[in-house]
Amino acid sequence: MSSPRPELLKAPLVHDSLREEDSFWISESGAKFPLIGTIPVLFPDARLALAELKLRSQALINYYEANVDQLKEELRGPTLSKITRDRLEKTRKIQIHHLEFLRDLFSPLKLNQRSQPPAPEFGYRLPPSQALQGYFPNLVRDWSSSHGENEKQFELVRDVVGEQPLGRLLVAGAGAGRLAYDVHQHLGPSETICADLNLVLTLASSRIVRGETLKIAEFPVAPKNLAAAPGAIRECKAPAKAREGFSQIIADVYYLPFADESVDTVLTPWLVDILPHRLEFMISEINRVLKPGGRWINSGSFNFRFANWSDCLSIEEGVEAIELNGFRHEKIRQDLIPYLRSDLDAHARSETVTTFSMEKTGPARSRVKAPLRSPWIMDANVAVPLPSNAQAQFAQLESQAFVISLIDGKRTGLQIAQAVAQKYGLPPNEALDAVVSFITRLEDDSILRTGIWA
Ligand SMILES: C[S@@+](CC[C@H](N)C(=O)[O-])C[C@H]1O[C@@H](n2cnc3c(N)ncnc32)[C@H](O)[C@@H]1O
Repeated sequence: MSSPRPELLKAPLVHDSLREEDSFWISESGAKFPLIGTIPVLFPDARLALAELKLRSQALINYYEANVDQLKEELRGPTLSKITRDRLEKTRKIQIHHLEFLRDLFSPLKLNQRSQPPAPEFGYRLPPSQALQGYFPNLVRDWSSSHGENEKQFELVRDVVGEQPLGRLLVAGAGAGRLAYDVHQHLGPSETICADLNLVLTLASSRIVRGETLKIAEFPVAPKNLAAAPGAIRECKAPAKAREGFSQIIADVYYLPFADESVDTVLTPWLVDILPHRLEFMISEINRVLKPGGRWINSGSFNFRFANWSDCLSIEEGVEAIELNGFRHEKIRQDLIPYLRSDLDAHARSETVTTFSMEKTGPARSRVKAPLRSPWIMDANVAVPLPSNAQAQFAQLESQAFVISLIDGKRTGLQIAQAVAQKYGLPPNEALDAVVSFITRLEDDSILRTGIWA
């Protein structure tokens, strides 16, 4: 296990050189990238993104503190049966364990020390859909008993890799890191760099691959009985310390902190179809960092769910898009494998996994970068554009704001509807239907229940 070296990486987006100074990596152009222990945070606008991650980390701790308090309160209930009381006590114990686990994990972040982050330079935004505890079950699956899942996953990758040397390997979206570790230990890359933006998975796995045993809570999705309901605490450890040359970075796979043509192999395990932009963006970035003749190895689900039908590529269309952008496929296979199974769970998933190896034959036809924040958000002097459907949407928001302004804890739905009918010239029944439907939504969203409007 080693720390990543700044001289072997580049600043994201700009791709200028990096050096270490104090507790930062600094680029030639002066951008600062914080270190969490030895792990560099290499997002564009890294200090801003880390400030956001710290806020999310604190919110997660607050959430578990609230859970623990709530369970204490519920345990005071005089009518609880013995087995329910036992369940709540065990649940509280595991919630406390998890809270302590998170506090310990986040200790290098120094959550109580806040400094004013700099203004955004590039307009980078952490993907809002990637929660801090997203993919948390992967930690236990990767480093505790896995029902043979890790072994099967590794065998698929080993098969498509074949005999060719991996050289300098980048694992993009490495998650809890087991596949990256197994490939590093057994398939002999000269170096393995794991990139992921998930703090929890990266910080926990960085300790495990160094030889630590962590006790990690497993929370079943659908507990199958009383014993399973509170979850369980699992011992998570690596078979052996990672050999030299294995390192981790916190980075976004759309803005990889690598020079053009500097990597021999990119491995994307269970990544491509959970990203927010159509496949072309990932293809372009992988193509950029791969050396000519380098290889892209993928293994995982291949089920895109975008709003546009045309972006939801099947595997055949995916291969076509990849080959149109400077690759030639070597091997493709699809296998049904068990996925995130647990003795605690009533659910048991199987997934058809697509594993392929693509050789880079040339540059991507279209070199595209995933979009950053819009100019009118970055610069308050830029005009905010008016989309074609904006008028109708604004009119709806305006009428909703009018209803909200009438909610004062005294007016009835009928009175509000009368005011709406008068203002918008609507028939009374239509106004009443609209008002009832809107306040129903407020109630469904828990807004009317939380006292915000009191
Ligand atoms: C489905 S999980 C797979 C994790 C791991 N590769 C595995 O096979 O268990 C997807 C991983 O991609 C990471 N990820 C999602 N979007 C990312 C992004 N834009 N940049 C870097 N990592 C990302 C998530 O944090 C998560 O660890």
